[in-house]
Amino acid sequence: MKKEVVLSGIRPTGFLHLGNYFGAMRNYVRMQDEYDCYFFVANWHSLTTHPDTKELQNSVHRVIAENVACGLDPDKVALYVQSDVPEIAELYLYLNMLAYKGELEKTTTFKEKVRLQPENVNAGLLTYPVLMASDILIHRAVKVPVGKDQEQHLEMARNFAERFNYRYGNVFPAPQAFNFGSELVKIMSLDGNGKMSKSENQMSTLYLADEDDAIRKKIMKAKTDSGPTEPNSVKPDYIENIFTLMRITSSADTYNKFEEDFNKCSIRYGDMKKQLAEDMVSFIKPIREKAADIQQDKNLLHKIIQQGADKARASAAATLQEVRKAVGMNY
Ligand code: ADP
Ligand code: TRP
Repeated sequence: MKKEVVLSGIRPTGFLHLGNYFGAMRNYVRMQDEYDCYFFVANWHSLTTHPDTKELQNSVHRVIAENVACGLDPDKVALYVQSDVPEIAELYLYLNMLAYKGELEKTTTFKEKVRLQPENVNAGLLTYPVLMASDILIHRAVKVPVGKDQEQHLEMARNFAERFNYRYGNVFPAPQAFNFGSELVKIMSLDGNGKMSKSENQMSTLYLADEDDAIRKKIMKAKTDSGPTEPNSVKPDYIENIFTLMRITSSADTYNKFEEDFNKCSIRYGDMKKQLAEDMVSFIKPIREKAADIQQDKNLLHKIIQQGADKARASAAATLQEVRKAVGMNY
């Protein structure tokens, strides 16, 4: 039986962090055996907000290297760079004719970006959802693992697919946002303010590229308080987050010990953070080192990127042929 097509993209706009790992990359890795997977670095998308490309090449290489270091196997999945697949740009052109100014201007992320960068409200920003729909539809993907903030974009991708099918004939299945497994982890920032994010305070975010000492320092600075005064209290958000980090990186015994201490009001957050820091170092270090090795090995990187591009282009060309036939652009 043909496997279902899964696709997702990451914008190379900063260093990947623990939230990206537990919210996205870990799920990609778990999906690679069961599905026909396409994962890519959305470098065209990053031009809508980051027109300066001095850092871009490094970032693209780092995202590829970190994904492989986290366990994505370039032999199993198509791991590629968006700009290596020009078929996406042609599909974007056709879909742009079916996307209306009104609906694009109403998109939440567009309105937010207009507020954040009023001096650069470019057409690419307006048509961001059309490019994202092209990324998805070019492989006729049906499952798209993304966070909640991307749901509106997914709905727009479905609308564009439906509109295309109605006007030109049935080419695209309807893509759906997808949560892998029931456990949706959200990693909060270490200062307790919002989620860990590429653009957040660097001292409150644990990056996969962080050195051991930086990891220790950040965790020791994480927000705590003087501890609970009543047995079995409800944990404040920032304490819950430290327990979440421990649950996903430390052993069950370690986690249970501190949970018990908390419930008995005998917890010492200094000790807990020291333990968490060591376990976090053991978790991040091998990923960081493997990613650095890959990033330095330009031959290997190019091989991975080329292999991904070949796979992605084969699939994209097959879809584009159907698209051209449907639109009537086959002379
Ligand atoms: P960022 O907010 O750091 O720019 P993105 O918006 O590029 O991250 O998200 C890339 C992927 O990582 C998405 O699938 C998103 O759901 C996931 N993700 C990002 N931050 C977190 C977090 N703090 N906890 C869980 N998942 C996250
Ligand atoms: N817009 C997504 C984000 O900001 C990145 C992205 C671009 C994407 N194209 C995609 C995600 C296609 C899933 C599918 O996170």
